[in-house]
Amino acid sequence: MSDFKNPIIALPYDSFMAKVSVDDQESYIKHLEHGGVLFLPNLTFKIAPSEERFLSPKWSDGRAKNIYLRGNERKIRGAKGSEADLQAMSELIERYALNAKQLISNLLFDYADHAKPANTSLRCIEAAGRITSWRKDDSRLHADAFPSRPTHGERILRVFTNVNPYGKPRVWKVGEPFADMARKFLSEVPHYSKMQAKLLHMLGITKSVRGEYDHAMLHLHDLVKADLDYQQHAPQMRSEFPANSTWIVYSDQVLHAVLAGQHMMEQTLHVAPEYLHYPEASPKKTLETLLN
Ligand SMILES: [Fe+2]
Repeated sequence: MSDFKNPIIALPYDSFMAKVSVDDQESYIKHLEHGGVLFLPNLTFKIAPSEERFLSPKWSDGRAKNIYLRGNERKIRGAKGSEADLQAMSELIERYALNAKQLISNLLFDYADHAKPANTSLRCIEAAGRITSWRKDDSRLHADAFPSRPTHGERILRVFTNVNPYGKPRVWKVGEPFADMARKFLSEVPHYSKMQAKLLHMLGITKSVRGEYDHAMLHLHDLVKADLDYQQHAPQMRSEFPANSTWIVYSDQVLHAVLAGQHMMEQTLHVAPEYLHYPEASPKKTLETLLN
């Protein structure tokens, strides 16, 4: 929605089990589904003194960007350490997953049974100055879309908590509404080829056959990141998420860039399109409308 003037709203809750009225929950769902950010400046995730040692990049196995649990699996990924260390890291991440689940149940109850947990991660690498290819450069504005993991229209809902022990904020830029961006770039998305999509799947490059929606989302992600003029001049606002704060966002819709920050917990959830309250505001419907 191009008249979306206030993408970030602050909520007062300081507990993952906050009691929230049904009307307020509906207004939060409406805000999220229209490309807004729910910001909970008082909601922190407690890291026990014995766990503070895990707030270091040294536990990374050097291959993955984050240490994480995948969905309901309990096997820790992306980490190195002794059996006991890995177990303790796993428990820390699992506790965050439970808290995030609790938060969704209390804040966005209608999603509770439908938001499927995907990865839960501990991110200890400083975001500023990471050397990477332009396509993977998350300091450029983008809406999330992943080459190997087609969503088929399932939404990517993310809960983040800044757990930086030194009081450092996570610094983002939030861009213009999704539809405004899509209007500028959609004509540059190449024609979709089902044959090519099947080939990518056969070759193991994608985990399922990439459909038209994921094809468009991926190209938009790349077109936006590659356009340095857009990156510099498109409408955007700098947003700081202080240490010990939490925020929630549909990251496939909100244009975002990560400028700086270290030590964060993150829960990804997938919401099927049939459970959206405002499907007409979703990226899929937005693209369909623009194409017709
Ligand atoms: Fe992202």
